[in-house]
Amino acid sequence: MTYQARFEGKAAVITGGSRGIGAAVARRLAGEGAAVAIGYRDNKEAADALVAELRTGGSRAVAVRADAADPEQTRALVMAAVAEFGRLDVLASCAGIEHFDALERITPAAFDRVFTVNTRGQLFAAQHAAAHMGSGGRIVLTSSVSASRAVFGHTLYAASKAAVESMVLNLSAELGQRGITVNAIAPGGTATDMAAEHGAGYQHPQLAGRLSMQEWSALQIALKRLAEPAEIAAAYAFLASEDASYMTGRTLQVDGGMF
Ligand SMILES: NC(=O)c1ccc[n+]([C@@H]2O[C@H](COP(=O)([O-])OP(=O)(O)OC[C@H]3O[C@@H](n4cnc5c(N)ncnc54)[C@H](OP(=O)(O)O)[C@@H]3O)[C@@H](O)[C@H]2O)c1
Repeated sequence: MTYQARFEGKAAVITGGSRGIGAAVARRLAGEGAAVAIGYRDNKEAADALVAELRTGGSRAVAVRADAADPEQTRALVMAAVAEFGRLDVLASCAGIEHFDALERITPAAFDRVFTVNTRGQLFAAQHAAAHMGSGGRIVLTSSVSASRAVFGHTLYAASKAAVESMVLNLSAELGQRGITVNAIAPGGTATDMAAEHGAGYQHPQLAGRLSMQEWSALQIALKRLAEPAEIAAAYAFLASEDASYMTGRTLQVDGGMF
């Protein structure tokens, strides 16, 4: 597929870019001309393979190990992008982790782990990226439809994402003064490793995970299927582009009509 080259001459950092939605965002932005720096936590092999694929396609790309739980590593990822490409125009913050557990089993350690990556990690990604952006900069964080849905055992994850929606709203006022927009994507169920591993948790406990993801999607999603990562990446690319020049502080739900 060819795209209009909306990111020619621009540089992007994608956290959690080694797999799933982040990898699709890297492919989409690079496919439209961006130089991309991909952050990952464990999966060096996948990150390196993606960089090789993008370079073969003629893009500039680097991979940097950067645990989103450590703001210093995120800062180093941003610095590596600026050193390599000489500028930073886009942050797509995609790194995230799932969590399901009933209230009585939630521990302070689990709370810290989930919020440290999903919430604190995204705040400091925005802070470090914004420090290097000029007017026209684009920050796109990742929430989830879970932020505004009730699901058994999903309190920690959902709350960690709801906080992100408040973050983009408030950061938009601050960074709008510098011409930088801050928005979030709230994906619905998307066919990634995360969905394969945790998707059954979205079913009512009485179903005890008996439905396949396909059966569950047919019941709960207007379009009757999970999203492909590339379909979600298209929305990140929109918010990261000039096409979204008058959009900031908002969360865009991309969920195939989940009900
Ligand atoms: N899939 C869905 O249905 C869905 C729905 C709503 C929202 N989301 C959100 O969308 C984002 C991407 O999800 P996904 O489905 O693509 O997940 P995924 O398939 O599990 O991939 C997760 C990505 O995040 C990286 N990552 C995880 N923890 C990290 C950390 N501490 N530091 C740096 N990178 C880290 C992983 O790196 P490694 O490869 O190195 O492990 C990987 O690149 C997440 O924020 C998730 O919460 C997903």
